[in-house]
Amino acid sequence: MKLGAVIVAAGRGERLGNPIPKAHLLLGEKPLFQYSLDLFLNHSQISEIVLVTNTSVSQEKVKVIEGGARRQDSVEKGLMALSPDVQGVLIHDAARPFLTAALIDRLSAALREGNNAIAALPVLDTVKEADGGKIIRTVDRKTLWRAQTPQAFFVSQLKEAFAMARKHSWEEATDEAFLIEKSGGTVYCVEGDARNLKITTPADWEWAEIVIARPKAEAIPG
Ligand code: CTP
Ligand code: MG
Repeated sequence: MKLGAVIVAAGRGERLGNPIPKAHLLLGEKPLFQYSLDLFLNHSQISEIVLVTNTSVSQEKVKVIEGGARRQDSVEKGLMALSPDVQGVLIHDAARPFLTAALIDRLSAALREGNNAIAALPVLDTVKEADGGKIIRTVDRKTLWRAQTPQAFFVSQLKEAFAMARKHSWEEATDEAFLIEKSGGTVYCVEGDARNLKITTPADWEWAEIVIARPKAEAIPG
């Protein structure tokens, strides 16, 4: 099965508050999007990459296309830009520069076994439901997972889900698994990685700078 990757990097980064779009800000020596792009480029399971961005970049071996108004629109455009023979796709947010090759391995394996799958982590904190700060109840966390990207899908199923979302004017999706769930498909959680942080706020950015500055010897394998 031929696998492709769609990296979405067309957001504005409003919560980070820098005039330069988040995905194109320099983190250490290279722009944020380049971290995930390099990892996918060097991964043997991935034969095609689409980078969705509104900033002009030229990259060898990468199809660069313009994004849409919402994240969901950027993902859909990326999906449509894949070659027709790509059967499986890993969707990834450029805002997560610390994904690992092992994550791509796990998701590719899930697709090859016939399953849609997302990287996710079990919730370890105690979770409260509250209204205006006043706790209503403690939620049972045993069945709760935190969704990350990459998320891996059969291209045909994801295209169908996008078509249904459009036809029935579904609410905005914050991830693609939601669209598959809602269209009646099945998605599994595979082990995510706690280091696969999504950079959203200035505090996240500071943390990312600390991570890339640490001496290599301290790197934890995995
Ligand atoms: N994204 C995109 N197209 C959009 C919106 C978001 O490709 N119209 C991408 C972002 O570049 C990012 C990923 O989707 O890599 C996750 O989105 P988010 O973290 O929300 O990034 P931004 O939308 O850039 O940030 P903000 O919401 O703070 O403006
Ligand atoms: Mg956003």
